[in-house]
Amino acid sequence: MKPKVPVKIVTWEEIVEWSRGLAEVIEKSGWKPDVIIAVARGGYVPARLLCDFLDVTDLLSVQSQHWVEAAKAAEKAILKFPYKLDLSDLKALIVDDIVDTGDTLILARDFVSKEWRPKELKIAALQWISPVAKIKPDYYYLEVKEWIWFQYPWTRLEDTMQFITRIFREDPRTKGRALSIDEIKSLFMEWYGIKPEDLGFYWDLALRRLVEKGVLVKDGEGFRAGRL
Ligand code: ADE
Repeated sequence: MKPKVPVKIVTWEEIVEWSRGLAEVIEKSGWKPDVIIAVARGGYVPARLLCDFLDVTDLLSVQSQHWVEAAKAAEKAILKFPYKLDLSDLKALIVDDIVDTGDTLILARDFVSKEWRPKELKIAALQWISPVAKIKPDYYYLEVKEWIWFQYPWTRLEDTMQFITRIFREDPRTKGRALSIDEIKSLFMEWYGIKPEDLGFYWDLALRRLVEKGVLVKDGEGFRAGRL
């Protein structure tokens, strides 16, 4: 059966490979940025790796946020902590992990171009979900043709917690009773198409955090919904 929310777990090794690949695409174009601007938070790791692969020392950041919950859209992109800079002598590259709807990147691009005024401005992302994205980045490494939630290594815990929470919020089979660990694991596989075992220590950590936060309540050997 097709999962409700298809998820691919991305490894650290893949992130390094994809960033290296993206750096090569940029190098081959013959263009080189003077400064890299990471879109917080997803762009941090790729941006830092691009600095290394492209030999760029200057790294800045803007925080543009869209997704409040893993695999669920919040209504709007917002730019947190706007500040003023003068980049008029510099060629700038905005870097993010993925172009999904493109809203966060459009916001970051418009802000940087209007408020920081770089001499040139381009956009790079590891992945571009072409059928849903409102913009095509100047540089990307992988084109994604079918929407998937990419479970990046830097959001492993937060995503796992949100994945489990969503099951307890939305799946009628969790209502009004405690579920054994095996039942939760089986719902998790059904919803997301990945095995809890593939998340390593993050699975147990996520459950423990959810209990600490009161989202789940221990009930004998199992768990029931708390303050969801
Ligand atoms: N952030 C926004 N869209 C995403 C997706 N499809 N996978 C992972 N992170 C995302």
